[in-house]
Amino acid sequence: MEAYILTQNGGIETLQRTTLPTPQPAAGEVLIKTKGIGINPIDSQVRSSKEMLNMITNGNTPDIVVIGWDIAGIIEQVGAGVEGFTAGDEVFGLINMPGLGSTYATHVTAPASQISLKPSKLSFTTAAATPMAALTAWQAVVTLAKVQKGERVLIHGASGGVGHLAVQLAKYLGAYVIGTGSAKNESFILGLGADEFIDYATTPFEQQVKEMDVVIDTVHSIPHVLRSITVVKTGGRLIYLQPHFQSALSPLLEAAHVAGHGVFVHSSGKELREIASLIENGYLQPHVSTVLSFDQLPEAHRLQENGKPAGKIAVAVS
Ligand SMILES: NC(=O)c1ccc[n+]([C@@H]2O[C@H](COP(=O)([O-])OP(=O)(O)OC[C@H]3O[C@@H](n4cnc5c(N)ncnc54)[C@H](OP(=O)(O)O)[C@@H]3O)[C@@H](O)[C@H]2O)c1
Repeated sequence: MEAYILTQNGGIETLQRTTLPTPQPAAGEVLIKTKGIGINPIDSQVRSSKEMLNMITNGNTPDIVVIGWDIAGIIEQVGAGVEGFTAGDEVFGLINMPGLGSTYATHVTAPASQISLKPSKLSFTTAAATPMAALTAWQAVVTLAKVQKGERVLIHGASGGVGHLAVQLAKYLGAYVIGTGSAKNESFILGLGADEFIDYATTPFEQQVKEMDVVIDTVHSIPHVLRSITVVKTGGRLIYLQPHFQSALSPLLEAAHVAGHGVFVHSSGKELREIASLIENGYLQPHVSTVLSFDQLPEAHRLQENGKPAGKIAVAVS
């Protein structure tokens, strides 16, 4: 099979295309012929930082590292003991998070418990771009925040991969949603169903909102998340996407009587099936702004790191 290996931690030139033996599915696994790969911020973070790589592999980094976690494709082989999937099924998944998903390859083995049938209305590239962002949004909005009908929810980074799905999930649950983003993405965010938009470049959000039931803060900045605490009502919930911020946030969370939760997304075929059902029924629409070819995969990192358009980046694999 063809794959991109990580030759060392560094810039995009450290992603090197090569030929590797096609893996065989172990018991409980399937072998997927890749049709699409989703690109996420963590891909660049793990590529560029040895510390992040060792964190994600829990110190067990193999000699040959293939990164990437999001995939959509067609099952080619089914390992022993797998039920519910057969060769020819079109599937998508977030593979081995936390761990190495190794989806930057034309074939990928995946635990059957981490995949779902692909929603028929999604292309392979849109499906590939969905699992990590959608599972993060799900685990933030549904699992941790437990958003309820009528609650007021502020979502920062509402045009981003996670944010645009979090807005749709919160609306599906019946919340009043306010999204922040840059001016160029105002109509995109309102088009997702957000009730209000705040341009973060011109308007400090504290001037516009207060007493929120829930804030979902996707911005990678401790000062930003500290500002978010100030707009959550007593007894409200703040969800942030950088779990290592916890010690810096705890004193203010306690003082404000706000429940703070850091998300660390994990693979889940069960949750992905619920997400797939929402997509099939028209409640959730993942948005892909850019599709690149497998040859261009390193360029996808450059784009992700340099102010990409709203939504997600995907790679098509033929
Ligand atoms: N802990 C976890 O399990 C987990 C899982 C997934 C992602 N993450 C992390 O969560 C972050 C977001 O991920 P993503 O996939 O959504 O990234 P993304 O697709 O790159 O989106 C980030 C968005 O943030 C917006 N933004 C930047 N500065 C902002 C500000 N000051 N206020 C409001 N919005 C702002 C940008 O919007 P504009 O273009 O409109 O400026 C951009 O669309 C990343 O740091 C990622 O590493 C963590």
